[in-house]
This record gives sequence, structure tokens and C-alpha cells, in this order.
Amino acid sequence: MVVKICKDYDEMSRAAANIFAAQIITKPDSVLGFATGSTPEGTYKELVKMYKEGLISFKDITSFNLDEYVGITRENDQSYYYFMHHHLFDHVDINESNVNIPNTGGNLQDECMDYEHRIKAAGGVDLQIVGIGNNGHIGFNEPCDNFVENTNVVELQQRTIEANARFFDSADDVPTRAVTMGIGTIMRARKVVLVASGEGKADIIRDIVKGKITPMAPASVLRFHNDVTVIVDKAAASLL
Ligand code: F6R
Repeated sequence: MVVKICKDYDEMSRAAANIFAAQIITKPDSVLGFATGSTPEGTYKELVKMYKEGLISFKDITSFNLDEYVGITRENDQSYYYFMHHHLFDHVDINESNVNIPNTGGNLQDECMDYEHRIKAAGGVDLQIVGIGNNGHIGFNEPCDNFVENTNVVELQQRTIEANARFFDSADDVPTRAVTMGIGTIMRARKVVLVASGEGKADIIRDIVKGKITPMAPASVLRFHNDVTVIVDKAAASLL
């Protein structure tokens, strides 16, 4: 695990975007794994800028998102489908038929199995970006007794619901379930970039970089991966 400490959020975003740009330039038909949440917004802004400057193209890219809420439609402005189009896909030349975000509108167990098959059929994820919850979750893999391998349906923990309430009118409006890639799905990506910013993430960044590798801090498992870059700003790195 390589830890890169940046001076602020913007530098963190540029560093992550540069890794994506290098991936796209060296393999234009890459399979990219995307995350939502506030942290990667700056990375997507940088990627849109690079696209508009003619430095990168998404035309042969296939994408897989980490997760999607259950119980809200894709048109809802809090869905991750909406987020990805709003922040990235609507501004670049990605082919919509190559965009994959868990479809939570039908049978969830079928979708979990199908999502794994689609990732495999695409050749696996070349580069996956993940944010981290303040409880250590990656995707929506919440702290628990064991690492869950494949794409699965999860019940969100109260701490996650409270953290995500800032995007909704109230905590009561936050969906309580989601479909998420499993820990194994994320670990099978050939390269992983974890981004974190702000002092609210300092405790968990210390725990996953220096603490025990345990499913109670799910992101700690990334220390077993052979190509992980943790990109943090100074505040998130303050307890390292
Ligand atoms: C989002 C996701 C989550 C977030 C995490 C951090 O697709 O899977 O794991 O990355 O909750 O969210 P922010 O960046 O909003 O602090």
C-alpha cells in the first residue's frame, strides 16, 4: 500500500485523476471502477477537464460502479446513477451501453450475480477508485465479522445513514439498503486508488494504514492488495 499525502483536496483530486488519465492513455479500452460520494467529485471534475482539453477519451471505456441504493429510482437525484451522469458521464464521450451501475429496480439477488458476470465478461476491472466511510466501509461493505466476497445486498449501518443524511432532507429519507460490489470484487481490480479528505477521516485512515487487518475496518483488507495507492490530504493524514 502506497500512501500519498497531498496538501489539500484539490491536489488529492488531481493526483487521483492523473492515475486515471495514465490508465486511459495506456489502455484506451480500460475497464474503470467508479465510486460516488463527495470525495471523488473533484477527481471527476479533473477528468472532465482533461477530456475537454482533448487529453483523454472515454469512447472505448467500460465502467462499473461500486454500488447503488435500493428503494430509489435511477431518476432520483440521490441515486448513484444520477450522480455519475451528473458529475462525469454526461460530460464525456463514454458510450452509455458500456456504463454499468447496479440495477436495483428488479430482483436483487439476480442482479448481484449478473453484475459479477458482467465484470468478468468485461475482463475484470483495471482501475478502481474507492472512497472510505468513517466506519471503514468501501463500497457499502459495512464493518462486520467477515469479508463478503461478491456483489451483495447490504443493510446500511446507522453511522452510514447519518453520514449520508447530508444529501437528503433528513436521515429518515436515506435508503436503508444498497447493492454493493463485495470486498472480493474490489480486491480483484488490478489497481485500486483510495481517496480520503478532511479530518473526519483521520481516525479511519490511521486504522486502515497502521491498525489490524480486520473486517471490522473493511478497507484494511486493501493492505493485502499488491497495487493500492491511498491518496489523502493533510487533514486525513494527520494521525499517520
Ligand atoms: C460510494 C461508496 C462509499 C463512499 C463513502 C465515502 O460509492 O461506495 O463507500 O465512498 O461512504 O463517502 P464520502 O466521499 O461522501 O465521504
